[in-house]
Amino acid sequence: MKKKIVSFVLCTVMAAALAGCGSGGDGSTSTAASGGGSSAASSSAGSSSSASSKEEDTGSGDAITVGFSQVGAESDWRTANSASMKETFVEANGYHLIFDDAQQKQENQITAIRNFIQQEVDYIVLAPVTETGWDTVLKEAQDADIPVIIVDRMVDVSDDSLYTAWVGSNFRAEGDKAVTWLDEYYKSKGMENEEVNIVNIQGTIGASAQIGRTEGLEAGIEAHSNWNMVAQQTGEFTQAKGQEVMESVLKQHDDIDVVYCENDNEAFGAIDAIEAAGKTVGIDGDILVVSFDSTNAGLTDTMSGKITLNVECNPLHGPRVQEIIEKLEAGETPDKQAFVDEEVFAATDVVKSVKTDAGSFDVTVVTQDVLDNRAY
Ligand code: AHR
Repeated sequence: MKKKIVSFVLCTVMAAALAGCGSGGDGSTSTAASGGGSSAASSSAGSSSSASSKEEDTGSGDAITVGFSQVGAESDWRTANSASMKETFVEANGYHLIFDDAQQKQENQITAIRNFIQQEVDYIVLAPVTETGWDTVLKEAQDADIPVIIVDRMVDVSDDSLYTAWVGSNFRAEGDKAVTWLDEYYKSKGMENEEVNIVNIQGTIGASAQIGRTEGLEAGIEAHSNWNMVAQQTGEFTQAKGQEVMESVLKQHDDIDVVYCENDNEAFGAIDAIEAAGKTVGIDGDILVVSFDSTNAGLTDTMSGKITLNVECNPLHGPRVQEIIEKLEAGETPDKQAFVDEEVFAATDVVKSVKTDAGSFDVTVVTQDVLDNRAY
């Protein structure tokens, strides 16, 4: 077994330092459940080919080789997530990273994982595009004795031993935070009995981030007889599709109160479509824009009031995955599942905090200071 002995203390300090950068990027996680890990396999990184795009640095002999299958580059969040992984898994930290961009296609991710197995990487890290369809290829990794760490979105597999650990967001809690804020907002305005027409621009269908955020909204609509879902369509987490969907919805509905975009990039596209249609966004405008991610660009639009509510989804997973690998290297068992702590940002202070099943969360009004301290 080829293993680099990485100074645990040094790496833990680096992980803590990287994870701690900026507001909302504290890198802390909360445990959802505990479980076992598995041992690492031998490493011998060679060449591979796939339909997706692959980046590979020239790893040194003793480094721990990590094959990372990334979803794609669909959003600002994803760019920050890729940067976090690339900054963490560098030779100076004792790693050799093979980075594969699957261009939002599951078949590319399956090909990448098979290539990683052939290359006998030490660890496979998978950010799955959707939840289902992983059993076969993860079994192949398990048979090759290569631990698989799932990051960001979750997998829905028949046997949980097919992955070693998962770290990511509580996407349902994110949806619940948004819905609770909307409920409190309308109450604070004395508008709790008025009809509210909502458009839901969903993420990639079948992705955990879409499933949790959509479920949160649908539960909110179910609980409010005066809230109506007037349109619900995927924007695939991209600005272009978000704009396209909103343009078409605006042609069919003239009475939209809220557009619930499942990420910042969809929100940027929706805002462009709304403004091009001669309507205004914001608390004093025609349509309230709700978004998720709280990227720098998203919070800039929140500070200006274009996005009224922005629920954070933290992408800085590199140090968190590193911590899992270090635990495995040290013969320890990482938590099977860990949720990242995440915040809530708004353009207004009318709602001070939101209470959900996942806890109570303060609402931060976005200021220049908040933006200046943002790590992504
Ligand atoms: O899985 C996380 C989601 O994926 C982020 O909300 C989105 O921006 C990204 O594309």
